[in-house]
Amino acid sequence: MRKKKAETIALILTGVVCLFVIMNKNDTEDDVTSNSKDTHEMLHHQIHLPRSKTPKPLSSRCQQNMSAYNVTGFSTLPGHIQDFLLYRHCRNFPMLLDLPNKCGGPLNSADVFLLLVIKSSPENYERREVLRKTWAKERLHKGVWIRRVFIIGTTKTGFEKRRLNKLLELENNENKDILQWDFNDSFFNLTLKQILFLEWMERWCPQARFLLNGDDDIFANTFNMIEYLQGQEDNNGSKHLFTGHLIQNVGPIRHSSSKYFVPVQVQESDRYPPYCGGGGFLLSGFTARTIYNMSHSIIILPIDDVYMGMCLEKAGLKPTSHFAVKTAGLHVPAENVDIFHPCYYREIILVHRFLPHMIFVMWDEIQNPHLQCGKTNSSLQGSP
Ligand SMILES: *[C@@H]1O[C@H](CO)[C@@H](O)[C@H](O)[C@H]1NC(C)=O
Ligand SMILES: *[C@@H]1O[C@H](CO)[C@@H](O)[C@H](O)[C@H]1NC(C)=O
Ligand SMILES: *[C@@H]1O[C@H](CO)[C@@H](O)[C@H](O)[C@H]1NC(C)=O
Ligand SMILES: *[C@@H]1O[C@H](CO)[C@@H](O)[C@H](O)[C@H]1NC(C)=O
Ligand SMILES: *[C@@H]1O[C@H](CO)[C@@H](O)[C@H](O)[C@H]1NC(C)=O
Ligand SMILES: *[C@@H]1O[C@H](CO)[C@@H](O)[C@H](O)[C@H]1NC(C)=O
Ligand SMILES: *[C@@H]1O[C@H](CO)[C@@H](O)[C@H](O)[C@H]1NC(C)=O
Repeated sequence: MRKKKAETIALILTGVVCLFVIMNKNDTEDDVTSNSKDTHEMLHHQIHLPRSKTPKPLSSRCQQNMSAYNVTGFSTLPGHIQDFLLYRHCRNFPMLLDLPNKCGGPLNSADVFLLLVIKSSPENYERREVLRKTWAKERLHKGVWIRRVFIIGTTKTGFEKRRLNKLLELENNENKDILQWDFNDSFFNLTLKQILFLEWMERWCPQARFLLNGDDDIFANTFNMIEYLQGQEDNNGSKHLFTGHLIQNVGPIRHSSSKYFVPVQVQESDRYPPYCGGGGFLLSGFTARTIYNMSHSIIILPIDDVYMGMCLEKAGLKPTSHFAVKTAGLHVPAENVDIFHPCYYREIILVHRFLPHMIFVMWDEIQNPHLQCGKTNSSLQGSP
């Protein structure tokens, strides 16, 4: 009896090990998948099978642009910039998680008043969970719908990548709020992420009235946002709007140590167009569609918010400044003040850089009906 049981266990274990080996093998094979269209198509279809047992296809490859190696000084550039130049032209990546019904289908999508489009990455689970419970909660407010999507690529390779993708799949089963594509979710691929989102929007949510586009570490007062957008005279989303923290008269940073380093090999011009800081900005559906339209004929620049500015400029549209968007952080009037005093956040639309637990606390506090705020209230000027 005992022996039989042990044998069964051994058999199961062997099976599991074999399965693991096979799955890993498939993984390496997928990584070198040929670029043939048929394989491509086939893999693409597999993804849409609900919870299929077949291993998910990994990167389907866009070919390197070999001429990039010939660019002057190529070998002296940092690795991520070389990588950028080699794959700059790639704009098509398979979708791993899609939400065709997010806006009730393209024809009904005008019912979405505010679509929150939040740039996240696979590891940022805690941030997403907090946003779902707080300012990014999907809801009907003042008679209009707020909807939410996170836009995400992939990170890591092999089983680590699979595990993170599994996490996103689980989150999506529960929350239906993740758009994921199979590309490396790196800083220099943020523009790609934005373009892929706009492509999705054109297809599935073309009539959404307004959008908030921002990072997953911002605190946004979505009540104020709705109030502001509803207060737009004669703009129901069908006219131009693009507003946030306006940045003008700047150009590429040429110091190779900066995160934002853009060498002449990437952009020769020393000028950036006016743009809004990418931590968070508001735009109309019309403007989002126009930007997408323009993007077809503008070569990708890795800095995503500047790229938006380029698309606007080409369309002859201007970004504007909104005083209540604080993507550069909040300026407090004096030292020794509680910068988390809720009164500061009652009036803002958006602030950059909040830790998840502070988002949770602040969301509760700004809704406190007993909170009394006044510009002259001295309690704001110096907490003990
Ligand atoms: C790179 O430059 C070399 C020498 O000028 C040239 O022969 C080659 O065709 C170039 N390669 C590409 C891909 O442009
Ligand atoms: C390939 O790279 C070269 C050099 O950077 C560039 O001039 C060319 O436009 C690129 N080709 C494509 C298809 O992006
Ligand atoms: C993604 O890009 C980053 C930055 O360029 C790089 O460090 C990382 O190795 C890349 N990851 C994969 C899986 O290619
Ligand atoms: C962008 O993603 C693609 C696809 O994963 C990758 O080949 C490329 O290296 C990435 N670019 C950067 C700059 O990370
Ligand atoms: C939005 O406003 C435009 C006029 O600016 C109007 O033609 C259009 O019908 C309006 N759309 C909706 C859905 O109300
Ligand atoms: C997009 O561009 C095409 C021409 O390239 C134009 O016909 C079309 O009206 C544009 N659409 C929008 C929404 O700007
Ligand atoms: C100022 O703040 C204090 C403490 O938060 C509160 O008790 C007081 O009523 C406020 N005064 C005004 C004028 O809002």
